[in-house]
Amino acid sequence: MSSILIKQGRIIDPARGIDGVGDVLIRDGKVVADVAGADLNGVEVLDASGKIVTPGLIDMHVHFREPGMEEEETIASGAEAAVAGGFTTVACMPNTAPALDSEAHMNFVLREAKVAGLAEVLPVGAITAGRKGQEMAEMANMARGGAVAFSDDGTSVPSAAVLKQAMLYAKMLDKPILEHCDEPTLAEGGVMNESFVSTTLGLPGIPAEAEEIIVARDIYLAKLTGAHLHVQHISTRGSVDLIRRAKEAGIRVTAEVCPHHLALTHDNLKSFDPVYKVAPPLRAREDVDACIDALADGTIDVIASDHAPHLREEKELELAYAPCGLIGLETTVGVLFTELLDKGRVTLNRLIEAMTCAPDKILKLNRGTLADGVVGNVTIIDPEMKWMVDPAKFKSKSANCPWAGQELKGRVCATVVAGRIVFRLP
Ligand code: DOR
Ligand code: ZN
Repeated sequence: MSSILIKQGRIIDPARGIDGVGDVLIRDGKVVADVAGADLNGVEVLDASGKIVTPGLIDMHVHFREPGMEEEETIASGAEAAVAGGFTTVACMPNTAPALDSEAHMNFVLREAKVAGLAEVLPVGAITAGRKGQEMAEMANMARGGAVAFSDDGTSVPSAAVLKQAMLYAKMLDKPILEHCDEPTLAEGGVMNESFVSTTLGLPGIPAEAEEIIVARDIYLAKLTGAHLHVQHISTRGSVDLIRRAKEAGIRVTAEVCPHHLALTHDNLKSFDPVYKVAPPLRAREDVDACIDALADGTIDVIASDHAPHLREEKELELAYAPCGLIGLETTVGVLFTELLDKGRVTLNRLIEAMTCAPDKILKLNRGTLADGVVGNVTIIDPEMKWMVDPAKFKSKSANCPWAGQELKGRVCATVVAGRIVFRLP
């Protein structure tokens, strides 16, 4: 196997508290810490001067639409989009058709990802059979098949009793429960955040409380069962407060936030453009500010894209009929660098931590650092490069991207998975 030497980049490895210029050597697919003592004959050199070198970025929340909606995304096209966006490892949600709810489905995802040979794609198994919310799926079998976590993402588990039982199993299997928090009877029919803006636009709203009721319920269930609850795509100030208090009380809870909930607000819906329709909805400025502060202070652990590809003919229907979701794998780094880093809201180390060791710790992957012997996944970012977002150039099969036509600063220039360069900016 070949070797790669990534030279003179600014290495940021928050797991080890490292931030400084240096070299990273990968041999036989693994990181070699002792670069000075290594035989460098025949190594391929990647010059990273002026660039940021991080452990391969991890996105623990993506939707690849296979099986069922392969026109929107496949595991292979999603993996290609992932590495183009700097993500070496992604966890894909089970809201496919049929839902990923069996050991065979876990095997299927892992096999397709291996064939594609780009990013590592790790399956998340459904919590309930068929994602129907009625009874628990075969969680132990899915864990044996490689499930890294369980989620009914797209909807909350409606029954507290079913979720309680699933949490007891998840605890036994040592896997987290990833919960989409949106109380179904409050969320039904809503297209945006319930607020003065929704009233003036005459659009049906979803209140912040729809999210917070489920966050609160699930925190109680995590306390009751001792399971690890991970709150997906948190979006309100009230949810942030609940997470903060639960953490202070020693309950096993973590949370993630998406770039769109940090960079956009419900004011974007004034355009009536369905590209901004997402679940949970874009919220008010005060919610966005609370999420940014919580990301900065670690109350929110992780950044995840919730990459949600949709067909143009479906996404461009009027708001009431358009599906929720936007694609994010290829814009996450640019959006975060432009909207948070450049504006001084969150430090670079914290941003990288939220996309490397924080998700790694939750999913227990033994990635997320460049320590000796770890799988050689690396992301190289040019923090100064300006680029125009053009979804026609994306590797994703879908184009539902709210940043289309905008300039971003900060771009991934190379991605390395297990010592192989799987993406390089042309
Ligand atoms: O906006 C969303 N889209 N939120 C979700 O939770 C699901 C996702 C999808 O599958 O399209
Ligand atoms: Zn999702």
